Amino acid sequence: MDIQDPGFWRAGAISTTAVMLVVLAILTIDSLQDIRAGGSHVPKYDVINQQIGYQYDWTRRMDVPVIGGQQLLFGKLYTEAEAHALMRKGKLVIQSRACMDCHTFFGNGAYYAPDLTKAWLDPAWQQIWMPMTAAKTREDAMVMFLMHPDRYPTWGREMPNLHLDESEAQAVVAYLKWMSAVDTNGFPANFGQTQSQQ
Ligand code: HEC
Repeated sequence: MDIQDPGFWRAGAISTTAVMLVVLAILTIDSLQDIRAGGSHVPKYDVINQQIGYQYDWTRRMDVPVIGGQQLLFGKLYTEAEAHALMRKGKLVIQSRACMDCHTFFGNGAYYAPDLTKAWLDPAWQQIWMPMTAAKTREDAMVMFLMHPDRYPTWGREMPNLHLDESEAQAVVAYLKWMSAVDTNGFPANFGQTQSQQ
């Protein structure tokens, strides 16, 4: 081994790069498996047929989603394919209206309006918006709010009317329900324990 020989350093650089490429590939595949719908942290889309809670887990020392028994959404049970189609539509609505210009999803986006990662679980739907909209279910209250946020304000800042039709608002609600079931390692912390939207 001659450390004066440039060939030695070249071989070292090439072999280190090759090993790290393999490590990167393994980590990428591992992460993709965890973050795809049906992966360890992300439920399948048909989780919208179930009750979703958010509870403190003493072993993990953070809030984690708790998937419960069957709970219809808009009075309906969705097949996996139907749920998938609904998510696709919900995402397209969210992208086309640029909700991230004001809101964050998983902490990404703008900080003008509340983070929407756990919006489905916001106690304000039952406490404020259901009485305000006279809706019978949380999802109906959410649809009414999303279609007419200017009519049902609860905050100093108002959300503008983005002209969602009913089916678009329903797809967004389904997407928000699915998103609330994603295990985000406790993000956002203390959600729903303080008065919402302060
Ligand atoms: C111009 C900024 C703006 C845009 C764009 C916007 N919002 Fe909002 N949104 C707000 C504000 C401000 C609030 C708080 C309003 C209130 O409580 O009256 C809010 C509240 C909400 C809430 C209630 C959150 C909770 O947990 O209490 C939801 C859900 C929501 N928005 C969804 C959306 C979706 C979906 C889109 C895109 C289709 C969107 N918003 C686009 C500003 C915006």
